Amino acid sequence: MSVPKILVIPGSARKDSFNRKLAAHAAEKAGRLGAEPTLLDMNAFNAPLYHGDLEAEQGLPETMRTLRQMIGTHDALIVVSPEYNGHVPPLLVNAFDWVSRPDGEDKDNVFAGKSAAVMAASPGRLGGARMIPRLRAFLTDLGVMCLPGQASVASAFKAFDESGQLTDERAAAQVQTLVKRLIDLHR
Ligand SMILES: Cc1cc2nc3c(=O)[nH]c(=O)nc-3n(C[C@H](O)[C@H](O)[C@H](O)COP(=O)(O)O)c2cc1C
Repeated sequence: MSVPKILVIPGSARKDSFNRKLAAHAAEKAGRLGAEPTLLDMNAFNAPLYHGDLEAEQGLPETMRTLRQMIGTHDALIVVSPEYNGHVPPLLVNAFDWVSRPDGEDKDNVFAGKSAAVMAASPGRLGGARMIPRLRAFLTDLGVMCLPGQASVASAFKAFDESGQLTDERAAAQVQTLVKRLIDLHR
């Protein structure tokens, strides 16, 4: 049986980010269910806002080249994102825009053929529900096959304990189901 490599990408770099906590939970779950997860800290993937002139002069920023390579060497993605005004936050949009560009002679679309599960956490009552279909559409347009279903943490301020562990059982069950489905796709 193969061991799928799953890249877990939080859409927030904030120290106390709910989405980072949810991403850590999903990565741990993926490991327990038999995958090989890599959990990203987006603080290590800073990049200037995409600009065509910058790209023409300098190519991909080194951090985005690394992210591009990491996506390319993983089988699947778990994207765990906040909702900003109903949308995918600029951190993710900018990173994925950079990564969607060719890297010099390497013109492959690194997203093609990847699969993904989407998750969200929000202090609000809707748990990022307006953002999730937009994230799914964005990933689909990049060439990613997104699993139906999602894991969503609403009222996130009361969904994690002091050590950052997810205590919301409904959300934990959603993560379990989704991560297992993603792994089963690659067995
Ligand atoms: C610019 C901005 C827009 C936001 N818009 C929404 C929103 O539309 N829906 C929502 O549930 N939360 C919204 N929030 C609140 C975020 O969900 C909250 O800041 C959350 O903690 C961010 O995720 P993180 O904890 O992973 O950093 C917004 C926050 C910011 C900064």
